[in-house]
Amino acid sequence: MGELDRRPEAAPAAPREWAYAPAPESRDVVRIAERYGHFVGGEWLEATESYETISPSSEEPLAHVGQATQQDVDGAVGAARNAFANGWSSLPGSERAKYLFRIARLLQERAREFAVLESLNGGKPIKESRDVDLPLAAAHFFYYAGWADKLEYAFPNRRPRPVGVAGQIIPWNFPLLMLSWKIAPALACGNTVVLKPAETTPLTALLFCDVLRQAELPPGVVNIVTGDGRTGAAIVDHPDVDKVAFTGSTEVGKAIQRQLAGSGKKLTLELGGKAANIVFDDCALDQAVEGIVNGIYFNQGHVCCAGSRLFVQESIYEPLVEKLKRRLTTLRVGDPLDKNTDVGAINSAMQLDKIRELVAAGEEEGAEIYQPPCRLPEKGYWFAPTVFTNVAQSYRIAQEEIFGPVLSVLTFRTPEEAVEKANNTPYGLSAGVWTEKGSRILWMAQRLRAGVVWANTYNRFDPASPFGGYKESGFGREGGLHGLEPYLRFDE
Ligand code: NAI
Ligand code: MG
Repeated sequence: MGELDRRPEAAPAAPREWAYAPAPESRDVVRIAERYGHFVGGEWLEATESYETISPSSEEPLAHVGQATQQDVDGAVGAARNAFANGWSSLPGSERAKYLFRIARLLQERAREFAVLESLNGGKPIKESRDVDLPLAAAHFFYYAGWADKLEYAFPNRRPRPVGVAGQIIPWNFPLLMLSWKIAPALACGNTVVLKPAETTPLTALLFCDVLRQAELPPGVVNIVTGDGRTGAAIVDHPDVDKVAFTGSTEVGKAIQRQLAGSGKKLTLELGGKAANIVFDDCALDQAVEGIVNGIYFNQGHVCCAGSRLFVQESIYEPLVEKLKRRLTTLRVGDPLDKNTDVGAINSAMQLDKIRELVAAGEEEGAEIYQPPCRLPEKGYWFAPTVFTNVAQSYRIAQEEIFGPVLSVLTFRTPEEAVEKANNTPYGLSAGVWTEKGSRILWMAQRLRAGVVWANTYNRFDPASPFGGYKESGFGREGGLHGLEPYLRFDE
């Protein structure tokens, strides 16, 4: 019996001698209105129906936001069409670029305000909204601003032209960042936009309208309507929408694809994932543990490319799991606005129910659960970081997207077996490989059916790098040169 086997109790012993003092970020930097309408044609239209948006970490109501009706969507699409036909699509690329550069700089200037609002409305740690969401959102606008006047060089001899009105529907896990992924390339290519944020996280998209006004973007180029799936469906269905871009669940993605079949509308879908994070025995173990933690606990695991299936080479299984459990005890779960928080609140009651259901299924099917000792706040939606060992590939926790801070650990012996198991999923969005050998990284990357393969890192994003899926993770790419194509047509 190895030493690790003999003292399993040793793993969770946390360094409890001292605690972090609270370090809350000030809420005063952001002003939330009591009530929001829809941003259409550069104006605020009063909403006829509305609902309350809350802070998931406290269940405190934050504002009333509109539930856009068919009529509201008609108005928004009309405004977008008008802006497209009367100026925006024929503006020289260098002029469009100026607006995008302005938006990017304004996002940088107002980053703190946006980061606080993102954390308040969505539950993610301020450390992440401040250091990841906001810098990346600004970077996307900077990046696509650079392409706006170079489309002819990006696609030589193909006469790239804008598609028209883009209907864009985004999820709640990276609200402002997904908005940037959608809006920046659309505008760079000369399209106009109707965008709908997710129902639980509308506030940063609504604050973004203020940035659009500051940037003096012509009215109607970007229209933002809020509401739930009904509003989304109305956008998708609208006969005057030329292109639909959707990020969200595979279920809704499939419904949209069915809905659009035969309509001639362009479509890109960025859907779910169940990524394999594969750790070989020659890797730098401590770095791999950091990558595993980042892969699954970043943003409470509400990440489509989360490394939710950990594949560990058998020979290092025990030391790795021990290190991982010990690392988990140091994660600070709590107030999203505290600068020391690592894991924030679950985004909604609905998502918390889904996580609980799948975790219960994991225990029932026979997996072994580990959660570090942590005190969860009484109000709000919370789930402790969780690791499952003894997981079989057939278990629901190894098959289905949990979209929460829950990791399933599996093992393998050979690279061939790792590839076989990693690809044994209906999804194909991302994967991670941890090994010292460059040749093995390339060998693995060629065989993994995933849109992105990270090597000795995880969740690394850059606007210049395309992102998107295989199989049920969707189709089309966002980011990079590839991200321009869905917003262009090349016919004569
Ligand atoms: P969802 O797919 O229902 O919501 C995403 C967006 O689509 C929201 O803006 C929503 O209002 C809109 N929507 C809903 N029904 C629509 C319809 N029929 N037509 C047009 N738009 C519609 O995702 P939901 O219910 O919030 O989460 C369910 C699961 O989906 C999560 O547990 C997670 O597994 C997965 N998901 C994956 C995401 C990703 O980034 N790939 C993002 C969000 C959820
Ligand atoms: Mg849904």
